[in-house]
Amino acid sequence: MIGEEICRLRVRNSSEWITHFEENAACQRAVPWYQGAGVSAAELAEIADSLRGWQLGETSDGSHLFTAACHYAKAIGDPDFVGAVRLFIAEEQRHGRQLGRFLDLAGVPRASEDRGDSLFRFVRYSVSRMEVWATPVVMVETHAMIYYNAIRRATKSAVLRRICEQILADEVAHIRFQCERLAILHHRCSRWRRALTMRLHRLLFVVITIAVWTGHRRALRAGGYDFARFWKSAWGKMRFAWRMMSPDIYCWNDTPTTGQSSRRPTLGRSPA
Ligand SMILES: [Fe+2]
Ligand SMILES: [Fe+2]
Repeated sequence: MIGEEICRLRVRNSSEWITHFEENAACQRAVPWYQGAGVSAAELAEIADSLRGWQLGETSDGSHLFTAACHYAKAIGDPDFVGAVRLFIAEEQRHGRQLGRFLDLAGVPRASEDRGDSLFRFVRYSVSRMEVWATPVVMVETHAMIYYNAIRRATKSAVLRRICEQILADEVAHIRFQCERLAILHHRCSRWRRALTMRLHRLLFVVITIAVWTGHRRALRAGGYDFARFWKSAWGKMRFAWRMMSPDIYCWNDTPTTGQSSRRPTLGRSPA
């Protein structure tokens, strides 16, 4: 039965997430920097502006998140959560560093300001609650799965393609990290409040999806996404994330958790 099968899932604890991020950092794909940027002027014309904005978004120092995580970890008595978030931030900063290094190699100046990035930061910084922080992040990371796939397809640069491949692999776990945290946060909420939250999620997702398309459509098109394909892919991936953040699919302390680890869903099952 589907319900019984799904009920075997469990959330990872913070210590397991620390292990994941440490192991992931130790087995990164090698980027062939020695090859140079290897990107043509025609490719750059399609993706450079967009990549500058996205690179800026990956370079946050994470101080707001870190502060929110410290307060939250103290409140729930989970000091390891701070360590997991620290490693998560380090992974995002590595994305920013690698994209920045690619831009430098390609002779493209880095951005110091981007409208989409400013809007995203405003939403995250307006309230320091973990839920308010994690919700837009998981939505943007869902779009990142499409965006970096588009960039990978839009260039022959071995350097940029390898960076995109690594980011795509990292983001699968990032989305799960956020979804599990949201499932924990929603677990104690009443049904009506969760239903209301999910409605607000859909509204926010419409806004973010349109903002991403508006700001990055040229690069997305270069990677093979017209608006219809982008929209369908975004909603398909987000529907999967919504399922992963539902407390109903996890076993909690009051239910048995044996045999859980092999039954976790993967993002690969969602529509591309
Ligand atoms: Fe990232
Ligand atoms: Fe991420």
